[in-house]
Order: sequence, then structure tokens, then C-alpha cells
Amino acid sequence: MKSLSFFAQLGLLGFASASSLSCSVDAFQKILNRNNLNGTVLAATAIAANGTYHVSDDEAYSTSPTGLPALCQLEANMTTVAGTTYSFGLFLPNEWNDRFLAVGNGGYAGGINWIDMGAGVGYGFAVMSTDTGHQGGYQDTAWAYHNDESIVDWAWRALHEATVTSKVIIQDWYGQSSKYNYYSGCSVGGRQGLRALQLFPEDYDGVSSGAPAWWTTHNQLFALKVLLWNFPEDAEHTIPESMFNVIGDEVLRQCDPQDGLTDTIVSDPLGCNFNLLTLLCEGGNTTDCLSGPQLDTLYQVYGDWVDVNQTFVFPHYLYGTESSWSSAIGTGSLSSIENQSGFAQDLLGFGSAWNYTDLTYATVQLADKINPGNATADDFDITPFQARGGKLIHHHGLADPTLPTGSSLYFYSHVARAIASSNTTIDDFYRMFLIPGMEHCMSTPTSMNAPWYIAGANQAAELGDDVSGVPGYRDAEHDVILALMNWVENGTAPDYIIATKYTDDSTHDEVLRQRPICPFPSQAKYSGSGSADLPENWSCEEY
Ligand SMILES: *[C@@H]1O[C@H](CO)[C@@H](O)[C@H](O)[C@H]1NC(C)=O
Ligand SMILES: *[C@@H]1O[C@H](CO)[C@@H](O)[C@H](O)[C@H]1NC(C)=O
Ligand SMILES: *[C@@H]1O[C@H](CO)[C@@H](O)[C@H](O)[C@H]1NC(C)=O
Ligand SMILES: *[C@@H]1O[C@H](CO)[C@@H](O)[C@H](O)[C@H]1NC(C)=O
Ligand SMILES: *[C@@H]1O[C@H](CO)[C@@H](O)[C@H](O)[C@H]1NC(C)=O
Ligand SMILES: *[C@@H]1O[C@H](CO)[C@@H](O)[C@H](O)[C@H]1NC(C)=O
Ligand SMILES: *[C@@H]1O[C@H](CO)[C@@H](O)[C@H](O)[C@H]1NC(C)=O
Ligand SMILES: *[C@@H]1O[C@H](CO)[C@@H](O)[C@H](O)[C@H]1NC(C)=O
Ligand SMILES: *[C@@H]1O[C@H](CO)[C@@H](O)[C@H](O)[C@H]1NC(C)=O
Ligand SMILES: *[C@@H]1O[C@H](CO)[C@@H](O)[C@H](O)[C@H]1NC(C)=O
Ligand SMILES: *[C@@H]1O[C@H](CO)[C@@H](O)[C@H](O)[C@H]1NC(C)=O
Repeated sequence: MKSLSFFAQLGLLGFASASSLSCSVDAFQKILNRNNLNGTVLAATAIAANGTYHVSDDEAYSTSPTGLPALCQLEANMTTVAGTTYSFGLFLPNEWNDRFLAVGNGGYAGGINWIDMGAGVGYGFAVMSTDTGHQGGYQDTAWAYHNDESIVDWAWRALHEATVTSKVIIQDWYGQSSKYNYYSGCSVGGRQGLRALQLFPEDYDGVSSGAPAWWTTHNQLFALKVLLWNFPEDAEHTIPESMFNVIGDEVLRQCDPQDGLTDTIVSDPLGCNFNLLTLLCEGGNTTDCLSGPQLDTLYQVYGDWVDVNQTFVFPHYLYGTESSWSSAIGTGSLSSIENQSGFAQDLLGFGSAWNYTDLTYATVQLADKINPGNATADDFDITPFQARGGKLIHHHGLADPTLPTGSSLYFYSHVARAIASSNTTIDDFYRMFLIPGMEHCMSTPTSMNAPWYIAGANQAAELGDDVSGVPGYRDAEHDVILALMNWVENGTAPDYIIATKYTDDSTHDEVLRQRPICPFPSQAKYSGSGSADLPENWSCEEY
């Protein structure tokens, strides 16, 4: 056990020292046994500075992180309180920043997210990811069929138990507990973070949640429903793929100028009163326009999913998502529809005989009744997290063609409503940043080239296997993880986060443009002079 003054000296340098224990299966098995943690260490390997962790046999996360700092990698298989098992991976850097970071998963992915762990360890965090209790790809749901305990592991239990276990291992390994604990995840990973702060407010001091798929029972069925609106191929009402860009161009014409700058980025889709009728074929013209039945489909796609008795089920895709519609609303292919049937077949337990033609409002009602694994993150009163000093940064792309951005607005407003009479101010612990032109968790259509990169979950890998943080800008103004830390540890709330678009994201050596992303409900407004590619010519304004 090292003396406290030793660590205090190192603290001045910002990093604690490496562990004196050896990075071996034996050493970690002893740590598990000593702490009554029911698990088996599968691997432990020391990786030298600038090294690679070679991922083997992980369908969901097969990319190997490179350029790692010197660290000890470990993987263990654990038994939960319910007797099920999950595995998790941990990167323990030699130069530790005294903090713990858990990173999330995506879709139904059963795998350890090594590549996001690589991005996290670059800051000096001890980083953990769990396979959530099963092995498999993003769309694979077969593991869940009549397997309620595994669904709970996927929904929240594996992440919670892996977090508790990791904190114990960190304490033994470094001889001191982590000073602060963080979480970063996107999509289903964003949901995991929200669910964790609702069920276990003590697990994390700060949560970065991107494009959270928080409304599991509705968003999974919406993914199927929206495809059915534009189905089958070649039907009178089906909008052909060739029209997606025509619709997108008309959206740009009507909805781009609202923010004071015509720049191919639809910055304020919520503020646009888009007139769909300009797309209707007239006077025998049948090119680059929509027939009446097709226009009806377009109204449906831009309208919420409202079902029996005018009941709201799920929000719609926003204006500005059209260039990615071949995956979003689909092209009427049966295979894409069959690929979205897994939630009903396996998580609701209907089995493979369940057909998309069986999707009705009763399916939604049943889903809400079962609420598989209690995955839906709808405990909107998050004051217990606020009361223990927790901070939440939520972000979502306004051009998300996978999970409608409106679901984040719904979540935000329901939290605001739930805590309205609780003597807490939402801005003091929860801020939401809507990123114009960003798609699902990352990237921007080439037609927009919007600044999107803030080092959120899943983003670094888009730049490269060795990327951590925002290349060229390691500060709380540009980096959502550093912004979260600054808020949690210094009490400095982010009044904006500057998003970056590199000329070439893969080389990321030259910035194309940067722009502030403002906390909802304020929006970035162009000053009217100077380069619109410079963040200083923009400001956050409330409307
Ligand atoms: C890190 O390793 C890569 C090859 O994996 C090499 O190209 C690069 O020069 C190394 N960087 C340093 C700083 O050693
Ligand atoms: C974990 O252990 C269980 C029970 O022994 C086993 O079925 C499972 O395959 C193991 N998982 C991994 C990832 O090794
Ligand atoms: C550990 O898990 C195994 C496998 O489920 C179980 O047989 C055993 O009783 C557990 N031990 C403890 C101490 O919980
Ligand atoms: C048909 O209508 C579309 C949409 O208004 C327009 O862009 C196109 O030029 C028209 N084509 C002809 C041949 O008039
Ligand atoms: C719709 O409303 C009618 C009349 O109030 C009611 O009888 C029926 O149960 C409702 N249907 C659903 C699915 O809620
Ligand atoms: C459906 O899923 C299969 C298996 O994952 C995949 O190969 C195929 O490309 C998917 N089809 C569509 C249209 O997404
Ligand atoms: C679903 O039902 C449709 C219409 O009855 C049928 O064409 C299709 O083959 C069915 N698909 C499956 C997977 O059963
Ligand atoms: C969900 O939570 C409720 C209330 O805490 C509990 O009664 C129920 O058993 C849980 N269901 C599942 C599937 O975990
Ligand atoms: C509300 O919060 C303020 C500031 O934290 C505090 O001074 C005040 O006493 C609180 N009011 C109630 C009713 O708790
Ligand atoms: C807290 O603020 C100090 C002084 O500005 C700064 O040096 C430090 O990096 C901040 N800490 C975090 C975690 O952002
Ligand atoms: C806008 O940016 C330019 C550099 O392009 C700078 O010189 C100018 O002062 C900025 N204008 C405003 C209003 O901030």
C-alpha cells in the first residue's frame, strides 16, 4: 500500500502511478476472490505504449484499438445475482487520471466495445465495457427468445454489476478508489446511461448520453412500422429511392435559410413549416414529383406514429434526414422488414412465426405491459441523480435517420415536467445539445458537411482506430467528455460545445468548419459577418 503523500505528489502531475501488481490472470483472480466477486479472469495482458489490443472473436466490436498508452488489459466472465453470466473488459492505464469511465453498447450488440475503450483510455481513464450478457451482432435477437434473465442483463444489470465490480478492481489495482466515475454511450448505449442514472444514481457522477434509444418498447416497433409505410416495392403509394434526393433538395430550399444562413445545413428543422404540396405532380408531369398516394406516404413519414384512438406512439423523422432514407424509411424490400421483426419475435417472445403483418396497436400495448427487461428509461424524475451531484449531457443529431430526434425532445420535456415542482433547475444538472446535420451518433451527409464531431460515444472510431478526444482540441470547449468532467468536477456548466468537421475525417489534419452547438432550447445564430466556418462568428440565442 503506497502512502497518501506519494499519491498527492503524483496528483500534482495529474496522474497516479501504475500498479505494483503484475498484469496477470493470477493477480486479477486473486482480486476477484479476495472481494467475493463471482467470476473467472479469462485474460490479462500488459500492452506497451503505442500498442494495439488485438480483438479476436467479437462479432459486434471487431475493430482493434491502436496507439494505446501503456496499460493492463483484462477480461473476466462474471456470474450475476440471478445466476446468469456476462463478460467485461477493462483497460487499466499505467498513467491513470484517477477516474473511471464505462462505455456502452449499441443495438442488441453482445460484445465488449474495445474500440470505444481505446478512445477512453487515451484520456487516462480506467475504462470498462461489458458484453451485456450475450454474444452477437447489432441486429441479432435470437439470444433473447424466452430468456427473460438475459434480457434483464442486456437492459441494465450487466452494466451495473460490471461497474460495481470494476470499481472494486480499480481500488485494489491502484491502491485507491476512483475519484470520479463517468459513463459514455450512444443509441442503445445512450439508453443504458439514462437507465443507469435512473436505477443506480450512485454509479456515475457524469453521464454522456448520445441519441438515446430510451423508449425501447416504442422505438423498436417504430423501426418496423416506418418501413411498412413505404412498402411494398412498386406499390402506388411507395416513394421510390430516386425521389429521396428530390425531396431532400426541396427541404433544403424551404428549410435551410431559417437560421439566417443558406449553407446546405438544415439547422432548425423544427422551425420549418415545410410545404409538401410543392412536390405534388401537376398537369401530367410525372418526373421529379410525387403522385397523390406517394405524397400521402410522405405526410405519414413526416408525421408522428399515431394509432388507435389518436394515441401518440412515436415521433417522426425530421426534415433534413432524406439523404439517408434508403435505410430509414426503406425502399420497400422485404428483407429489411424481416430484419426489424426481432423485437416482437424474440424480446416479446412471439417466436419466428410472428410476421410483420401482425403488427398492430395491440403489439405496442403488449410491449408496454411486458416492458422486456425493464429496459425503457422512462423514470423521468431523475432528481435522485441530481441530488447526489450527478450531471447529464445529452446529445442527438438533427439529421438522425435511425432514431427520430423527437424522441430526445420528448425525453427532455418529460424530465422537465417531472421535476418542475421539485425545486431543481434543469439547466443546473441536465443539458441537451441538438447537433445540426449530424446523423445517428456520428457523421454528416456529404451534401451537408456539418460540424458533428464532439468526441461523443462511437465517434472517435470514425476518425481512426487510434483516435482519442478531438484531434487538435483537447479542451472542454470542443470535447463532450472534458465538458462533462469540467461540469462535474469544477461546477462549470457547458454553455456550448464546439463541433468540428475535418476536411477529411480519416486524416483529421485540417479543419473544414467548426460551430457551437447550443444547449436546448437555445440555437446557434450566425452573426452575419465573417467566416461562417469559424465558431466565433456564431452565438447561442434563445428564441
Ligand atoms: C506508433 O506505432 C505506429 C505503428 O503502429 C508507428 O507508425 C508510429 O510511428 C508509432 N508512434 C510512436 C510515437 O512511436
Ligand atoms: C462464461 O461462463 C459461462 C458459464 O461457465 C459460459 O457458459 C460462458 O460461455 C462464459 N462466457 C465467456 C465469454 O467466456
Ligand atoms: C458463483 O456462481 C456459480 C455459478 O453460477 C455458483 O454455482 C456459485 O454458487 C456462485 N458462488 C457464489 C459465492 O456466489
Ligand atoms: C415536374 O415537376 C417538378 C416538381 O415541381 C419540376 O421540378 C420539374 O421540372 C417538372 N418537370 C417538367 C417536365 O415539367
Ligand atoms: C378506443 O376508444 C374506445 C372508446 O373509448 C374504447 O372502447 C377502446 O377500448 C379504445 N381502444 C384502445 C385500443 O384503447
Ligand atoms: C438483413 O440482415 C441480414 C443478416 O444480418 C443482412 O445480411 C442483410 O443485409 C439485411 N438486409 C437489409 C435490407 O438490411
Ligand atoms: C408474412 O406475410 C406475408 C403476407 O401474408 C407473406 O407474403 C410473407 O411470406 C410472410 N413472411 C413470413 C416470414 O412469414
Ligand atoms: C420491472 O420492474 C418492476 C417494478 O420494479 C418489477 O415488478 C418487474 O418484475 C420488473 N420486470 C422485469 C422484467 O424486470
Ligand atoms: C430551494 O432551493 C434553494 C437553493 O438551493 C434553497 O435555498 C431553498 O431553501 C429551497 N426551497 C425548498 C422549499 O426546498
Ligand atoms: C478545473 O478547472 C481548472 C482551472 O480552470 C482546470 O485546470 C482543470 O482542468 C479543470 N478540471 C476539469 C476536470 O476540467
Ligand atoms: C468573424 O470572423 C472574422 C474572421 O473571418 C473575424 O475577423 C471577425 O471579427 C468575426 N466577426 C464577428 C462579428 O465576430
